[in-house]
Amino acid sequence: MKIKPFKLERYFAKHEFSAPYLLSSSDCEPVMLSELLALADGDCLALWNNLRLAYTESQGHPLLREEISKMYAGISKEDLLVLVPEEGIFAAMNVLLESGDHIVCTFPGYQSLYQVAESNNCRVSKWLPGKNLEFNVEDLFALLTDRTKLIVINFPHNPTGGMISRSDLEKIIETARKRNITVFSDEMYRLLEYDEKDRLPSVCELYENGVSLSGLSKTFGLPGLRIGWLATRNKAIQGELAAFKDYTTICSSAPSEVLGIMALRNKEKLRDNSLGIIRGNLALIEAFAARQSGWLDWKTPKAGSIAFPGIRIKESAADFCEQLVREKGIMLLPSEVYDYSRKCVRFGFGRKSLPEILPMFEAYITQKGY
Ligand SMILES: Cc1ncc(COP(=O)(O)O)c(C=O)c1O
Repeated sequence: MKIKPFKLERYFAKHEFSAPYLLSSSDCEPVMLSELLALADGDCLALWNNLRLAYTESQGHPLLREEISKMYAGISKEDLLVLVPEEGIFAAMNVLLESGDHIVCTFPGYQSLYQVAESNNCRVSKWLPGKNLEFNVEDLFALLTDRTKLIVINFPHNPTGGMISRSDLEKIIETARKRNITVFSDEMYRLLEYDEKDRLPSVCELYENGVSLSGLSKTFGLPGLRIGWLATRNKAIQGELAAFKDYTTICSSAPSEVLGIMALRNKEKLRDNSLGIIRGNLALIEAFAARQSGWLDWKTPKAGSIAFPGIRIKESAADFCEQLVREKGIMLLPSEVYDYSRKCVRFGFGRKSLPEILPMFEAYITQKGY
């Protein structure tokens, strides 16, 4: 398979480790290894201290899967496959789709969610948000055809932070069930709802032919562990996913799995820490956005660590971001990396550095006269 470059990841590869000020990261403040070890219970410390760096169980460490299963209703550790989140997308798209199939996917979005399908000669229809960057399920239903094999959704959404209502999600599942369509749900930012009432059930809980993706990278501030999982109650799909993993990583990293168990035994603490940082940062961004409303169309999302406001400026979003990183070392993501035609930039507000970076960004904006 020939696959197109992943534009967002190429942009990060260029700037993430050279630009000193990251204002677009989607992960929450990364946890220090020492902090995680300090949270570990006696059993986990014993696992850590006696860890043999051997191959691990391909499906994932049973204790890790047990902790993951506690996060869902009606999901057992047999319904889970531990892998790298991005690997989960690649595996699922290869397992669920064949050349010629039609899929509908939220757009703009994390590129692999539709690119793997497109590169495997599937036809992709984009479920686009309306004017206020809100997703309307009727627009999704209008895109379904007799050949639609898969609906791919991602809520809380990257990049807009958008959500849909529980009843809209139920309508999607009902429609998919009636038409025998599988649903792949990227839930990487789940549990970061600012109001718990807005939290959606996981698709793997609602739908017997649903596959949910989640992981430790965003909500729990542990992207360096490279630990995620796919959850599905469909045994046939689960078996095919497990078999596919033999061609990617075979099994997960032994140290990461043990650190993952420690993390999930402290999941509320880690999540609350991320949410605390997000809340503090959002207050600063909202005040900033109110002062900058002449060019910035800010709307606070309901969940997650990112937003995608429109910008009313003369130059392209790509030129704006290139100049900003070149002159001030501040990294923002332009809408071009999402192949999105509206001029937007992605802000990330899950990191502790935002209170330092935002005033520098504002000084730059003032100096440029936006
Ligand atoms: C929506 C979405 N899905 C999947 C991933 C992949 O996660 P990871 O980088 O941990 O593999 C990301 C990462 O940015 C994401 O934003």
